[in-house]
Amino acid sequence: MNRQSSFVDAFDFGNASLIDHLESMMHRAYQGSGYCLIEHGQMVGEVAAQIAEALEYPFTSVNRIDPIRLAGRFHDIGKVMLEEEIRLRTGGQSRQELLKFQAHPVLGAEILRDLGVNRFIVDAVLFHQVHFAGGGYPRCFFSGEAIPLIARIIGVADFFVSGTEDHGDRPGEDAAVVWKELLERRGTWFDPAVVDAFSRTPRFKVAIGFNQPRLALNPDRSFPLGA
Ligand SMILES: [Fe+2]
Ligand SMILES: [Fe+2]
Repeated sequence: MNRQSSFVDAFDFGNASLIDHLESMMHRAYQGSGYCLIEHGQMVGEVAAQIAEALEYPFTSVNRIDPIRLAGRFHDIGKVMLEEEIRLRTGGQSRQELLKFQAHPVLGAEILRDLGVNRFIVDAVLFHQVHFAGGGYPRCFFSGEAIPLIARIIGVADFFVSGTEDHGDRPGEDAAVVWKELLERRGTWFDPAVVDAFSRTPRFKVAIGFNQPRLALNPDRSFPLGA
């Protein structure tokens, strides 16, 4: 078996009933909250796939169901395991509540690992909130290129999508403002090569184009924890 076919076989995860099951868990967890975790995951998956393509990421399009899109779709699946109050809160958390919220990548990785999902996707979920130069969560003893590339891609896509989407009654931020905040974290939170690749995607061109002079940061704005 060559490397390419074993890679494709490894993503037999793309079985429809499992995907439906996971998405119905996501639907139930946020039902009536005004926030759609399924839509968030799909958007992150789409942006992540475009970044991967801009990076000429190997094997991006060999499978019928793109593994990077799947990783994006389920990167926040761990949130279904959080207490409702922690899960739905969009600001004003205590330190303890924040720590509980920050368990979601580990919880998500456990759910997928228990279902036999491939390590590639499990790693994307586990490390999507780890910062390129160190920090973020869960706490890791490595950084930079030691973080799986798929997780670095999901991290950038997630930051952009979270920043620009509506959260209940809180409207999303202007795409150009979120792009500026992403640039400020280039090299610290995010892999510079991945940020640069994002700027070459169709999604970037549609959302931001060449219209950057209108950037104005809102100092009162804090990022939603939905990332
Ligand atoms: Fe997210
Ligand atoms: Fe997340």
